[in-house]
Amino acid sequence: MSDTVSYTELGLANTREMFKKAVGGGYAIPAYNFNNLEQLQAIITACAETSSPVIVQVSKGARDYANETMLRYMALGAVRMAREMGSNIPIALHLDHGDSFELCKSCVDSGFSSVMIDGSHLPYEENVKLTRQVVEYAHQHDVTVEGELGVLAGIEDEVQAETSTYTKPEEVEDFVSKTGVDSLAISIGTSHGAYKFKLKEGEEVPPLRFDILEEIERRIPGFPIVLHGASSVLQEYVQLINNYGGKMEGAVGVPEEQLRRAAASAVCKINIDSDGRLAVTAKVREYLSQHPEEFDPRKYLGVARKELIKLIKHKNETVLGSAGRA
Ligand code: 13P
Repeated sequence: MSDTVSYTELGLANTREMFKKAVGGGYAIPAYNFNNLEQLQAIITACAETSSPVIVQVSKGARDYANETMLRYMALGAVRMAREMGSNIPIALHLDHGDSFELCKSCVDSGFSSVMIDGSHLPYEENVKLTRQVVEYAHQHDVTVEGELGVLAGIEDEVQAETSTYTKPEEVEDFVSKTGVDSLAISIGTSHGAYKFKLKEGEEVPPLRFDILEEIERRIPGFPIVLHGASSVLQEYVQLINNYGGKMEGAVGVPEEQLRRAAASAVCKINIDSDGRLAVTAKVREYLSQHPEEFDPRKYLGVARKELIKLIKHKNETVLGSAGRA
């Protein structure tokens, strides 16, 4: 294999067809972040067993952590593993929150089938210019591109913001037509990480801004919308973590009911990272605490992987509606 490799050689798919079906079918494609073997095995196993299309995505931080060449071969292995399981689910390899043209180009050249260029923190015209530049390069290789308008609060690897700025619906038509993006990430009240909302005693999680989503949908009907920061921060995991020596007071996420509503609308890609991290950490803490003599990583990572499979099946089947859609 040469240094430059097309995603088609790896058996991957871009997101175009996936999104077309998802928008028409009223469900969302899951986009799960990964940076190690057990996470990728769990994602592929769960999605193959639920017959769900899937986007496996890596942030810049995950790419630095896992090594670019390693990731390329892991993606190749993931596709082969699914096929050996007798599953033909489409699998996209996506760059999450690319922050420069050079990074996006390098991902296109190394086998990614989809990239995000996140210029949401830039002034509008600069965001348009940068996104357009990435689209022009990526489309020459039939790689799909996600852009972003509006800023999410929270922390995800290097990407962080104190407060959120909702997407301005009046900008979306212009942005989509000038940049040529294939999908658009928007900000309607979700945020990255495990502490999405600061709630006072007795307070409920504020609803997402469905009014903004509806206005966007009205302006660009049928256009694929992406929701970042969409973990639900399942309290059973937070409790397990806290019960076994962790300290995660006040961790809270987006209720599943709201994600179901979003998935049934123009939202056709839902990003989930924190929920997987929580499931793994909860199970590793529990296992090590209950088996203090154990030192084989396969034991505690094995139980974590099993839990992750369960969690992902649950998401596909009961939240995103992607199960059975491959
Ligand atoms: P969560 O932190 O809610 O899982 O969001 C992940 C994400 O949006 C990755 O881009």
